[in-house]
Amino acid sequence: MVDSYIPPRRGSIDDPLRIAVLISGGGSGLLALLNYQLTNPSCHIVELVISDSDASKGLHYATEFDIPSFAIELPDIQDKHQQRIFHEDMVQEKLIESKIELVVMSGYMRILTPIFVKKWKGRLVNIHPSLLPKYPGAHAHRDALKDGAEITGCTVHLVDEGVDTGEILAQSEVPVFATDTIEILQERVKKAEHLLYPKTLDYYCSK
Ligand code: GRF
Repeated sequence: MVDSYIPPRRGSIDDPLRIAVLISGGGSGLLALLNYQLTNPSCHIVELVISDSDASKGLHYATEFDIPSFAIELPDIQDKHQQRIFHEDMVQEKLIESKIELVVMSGYMRILTPIFVKKWKGRLVNIHPSLLPKYPGAHAHRDALKDGAEITGCTVHLVDEGVDTGEILAQSEVPVFATDTIEILQERVKKAEHLLYPKTLDYYCSK
């Protein structure tokens, strides 16, 4: 049986929801969220940053903003399933330690197991760089360009047991131009992501 979403408590400016941001790479989405929280009274606050890579540039943003951060890399275990479970257990331990109430995936390039999703379902949010259900998976921009799409965009959604299939919270459209490369399109979509994600979190955390 598939579990239903259990939403977080309602956050407020006086008592914001404690957020953990999961990242893998550049962390531009994390930086946008941190800057948003700095300049807008919001009902969420980043209390923890976790990356699955030691080399993630985003970890430096956490340090700059004085936010506890950890690189939790995949453990050295042969069995792939066991490896994922152990890795997620380490992440879970940090989330619990930091009393996290909402987990925000921002460029986190791992697919979470149903075991982890079940623990956080309704309190686990992701941003995907396409207008879902179009172009799910790890190559959204390549797929949009291949398809000759004239419009693409980004989607904030709750995470369920599938890949980019959870309930959609908000979307923003971005034009695609004939001269676009994957990199150019990615940068344009990221700009839209940086506006959409913090606002959508505000909406979701306060509803
Ligand atoms: C974003 O476009 C996000 O939607 C995708 O990966 C990118 C991460 O960028 N899943 P950054 O690490 O936040 O710069």
